[in-house]
Amino acid sequence: MMEETSLLLLLFVSSLLCCTTNQANLTVSSSSSQMFKGGFVYLSCEEDDSSAGWTLRRNTTTETRAECGVKWGKSTGSSCIISYIQRADSGVYWCESREGATSNSINITVAGGSVILQSPVLPVMEGDDVTLHCKTETSNLLLADFYKDGSLIRTEPAGHMTIHHVSKSDEGLYTCHVSSHGESPPSWMTVASKPTTTAPPPASAPLQLVFILAYHLMVFCPYFISTLIMVSSYRHRPTGNDLPVPMAIPLPNQTAEGLAEEYDGIMAVTTEHHF
Ligand SMILES: *[C@@H]1O[C@H](CO)[C@@H](O)[C@H](O)[C@H]1NC(C)=O
Ligand SMILES: *[C@@H]1O[C@H](CO)[C@@H](O)[C@H](O)[C@H]1NC(C)=O
Repeated sequence: MMEETSLLLLLFVSSLLCCTTNQANLTVSSSSSQMFKGGFVYLSCEEDDSSAGWTLRRNTTTETRAECGVKWGKSTGSSCIISYIQRADSGVYWCESREGATSNSINITVAGGSVILQSPVLPVMEGDDVTLHCKTETSNLLLADFYKDGSLIRTEPAGHMTIHHVSKSDEGLYTCHVSSHGESPPSWMTVASKPTTTAPPPASAPLQLVFILAYHLMVFCPYFISTLIMVSSYRHRPTGNDLPVPMAIPLPNQTAEGLAEEYDGIMAVTTEHHF
């Protein structure tokens, strides 16, 4: 009775450890939020709890909360593949669980013209450097004008512009222009503020640790629980009269000697187990 109570307690604690987190992080195979049509894009919900049923959804100009695999993309569980991205795939993408929990969202813009502005698909950390690339389908080393919120901020000879020590004031809508090619679609750059904790290590390290911990708990808990169940049921087994029975199926071409040796071997093993 004592054993059962402690077993139940252990089960309860481990299930708490296993399954309290219910979050997902959306990642995209592309590092840029703008792309030319025809590319392959892989979107993935990195979840703590796969049983929460995370699926990919998007809002475009024509769809609202459209689920991957229904009208767009090819669903592979909690990830999604767009094998030939087109202009109509431009929109905001996110992961949503069965209960309605949502992940971060990501803007994807597929260019209609021949110029794109490659800006980070994920928010930029305050204080980091960021480089924006202005590209055409055939070249990425062209004289380019960069605009922020509609005003020209810089002209760069090689098509890329680096902003050092990004601050909140750099957040905004960016476009670029290449003469004789035209203008890129606009891209919103989000600047995330550094967490204001007193802890010196970078923010990603503890977060990563939490993910790793959660992952290992998820892998080990079922194993741990089943081991506990096995151990407890073994203990409750009636003792005696249930010695393992060695079985040897004789094959037709085996010699009697060989069979005898094999049988001895099995007996030796079972004997070892019991003493
Ligand atoms: C998607 O569209 C719906 C309906 O317009 C809106 O409520 C929701 O906030 C949108 N989601 C995102 C992530 O923009
Ligand atoms: C997506 O773009 C819109 C404006 O175009 C912006 O308001 C929004 O914050 C962006 N979302 C993300 C996650 O970057």
